[in-house]
Amino acid sequence: MPEKNARDHVRGRSTGDSDSVSLNPIFARPGEATDIPKRQVPQAESLPETAYQIVHDEAMLDGNSRLNLATFVGTWMDDHARRLYTESADKNMIDKDEYPQTAEIETRCWTMIANLWNAPDPERALGTSTIGSSEACMLGGLALKRRWQKRRRDAGQSTERPNLVLSSAVQVCWEKFCNYFEVEARYVPISEEHRTLDGHGLDRYVDENTIGVVAIMGVTYTGAYEPVAAIAQALDKIAADSGVDVPIHVDGASGAMIAPFCQPDLVWDFRIERVASISTSGHKYGLVYPGLGWVVWRDTSALPDELIFYVSYLGGNMPTFALNFSRPGAQVLLQYYLFLRLGFDGYRRVQQESLSVAQFLAHEVEKIPAFELWNDGSDIPVFAWRLAKGHTDKWTLYDLSDRLRMKGWLVPAYPMPDDLSDLTVQRVVVRNGFSHDLATALLADIKTEVDYLDRLDGPLPHEGQTTAFHH
Ligand SMILES: Cc1ncc(COP(=O)(O)O)c(C=O)c1O
Repeated sequence: MPEKNARDHVRGRSTGDSDSVSLNPIFARPGEATDIPKRQVPQAESLPETAYQIVHDEAMLDGNSRLNLATFVGTWMDDHARRLYTESADKNMIDKDEYPQTAEIETRCWTMIANLWNAPDPERALGTSTIGSSEACMLGGLALKRRWQKRRRDAGQSTERPNLVLSSAVQVCWEKFCNYFEVEARYVPISEEHRTLDGHGLDRYVDENTIGVVAIMGVTYTGAYEPVAAIAQALDKIAADSGVDVPIHVDGASGAMIAPFCQPDLVWDFRIERVASISTSGHKYGLVYPGLGWVVWRDTSALPDELIFYVSYLGGNMPTFALNFSRPGAQVLLQYYLFLRLGFDGYRRVQQESLSVAQFLAHEVEKIPAFELWNDGSDIPVFAWRLAKGHTDKWTLYDLSDRLRMKGWLVPAYPMPDDLSDLTVQRVVVRNGFSHDLATALLADIKTEVDYLDRLDGPLPHEGQTTAFHH
């Protein structure tokens, strides 16, 4: 078999080799084609009912999002939210002149978020909505790069070799940032002793060309928080010893919408002076449907003015900072809806329930002799486990992932990043709507499948097995 090329990969699931979708003749209307090409725009029109049915039926082949324990992204909103979504699907976030109220609501939202993250003066903070955490992280990274460049230029120093210091367990968006914006990525490997970036040995990575350090609140691989305060302390020491003064961007894709509600005493946000900017995904524990992120800068000095563009707004100018021009405005309204609907207490209750389910499940998984827990879901409602040393040579966590998939559950197994790439873990992400009931059903399936795998006579073949983890 030839190697799959990149185009094969991006096409996704193969639904056979045919070049067309064939329509059941019972449903085709007189005069309509019964074969619709898959890779060319069809020549003729279809009736809306027919086109709808084809798309609807294709989309049905996707997995059931309620059983998807791999994604962090929201898969449920209530009926009022859906109504708002339908009503506002036509709004373009960039048309501030046309949709001034949506623009005003965007500002209200990020100011509320700046408050949640303890910005010293939320009225002096700057923020924006984005399409997700990836864009928010890139904007955070860009601001760090520009600030560093300006400082260096003003001092007559070279700006040729910027670097960013980050854990080897960062999400792929940071690799993209470093690649796209030409910044050297300096990865600090994780290990059994230092399971997250924790400030240990940071002085070996940071130098005068370091634009910033990324601290992750909710590492994608495991859900564990990186200790932002300890990282800041290590940077304080570096500043005192060498004069190299490095700011922090907190990638709070998940945790920045958990910690303010459920771990209010944990100091990770703008209470730490070194934290210049924080980003999160509105569409993760912000509880909104996909397509929303937020980034907030501590104050105007953290966001260089030359990165800001001005768009026409009510006859005046509105500052914007984004990679995209057009993007949906509906999600911003949905975020505002949820802030009003749930309030602080409601968010806390929803997130607390997810934490409670995650911890229940983690401790039950821990009781299964095949497993060792990596973490227990007490940071964000996410936890991971590994196979207990010496438990079996007949099966792997990839096999368990496959067996669970047969029952509809998506529970990915994947290797950890450097220096733990020999270690495979399996992870569960608990989101709003994953009830104790569903958790109990998952647990029963895990036990049944482990039992089945343990009773195998010999090892399972592993050729061609792939990991399902892409986050
Ligand atoms: C820590 C972290 N940062 C960034 C991202 C990217 O987020 P988004 O999918 O909202 O672009 C993720 C996604 O899982 C993440 O876990």
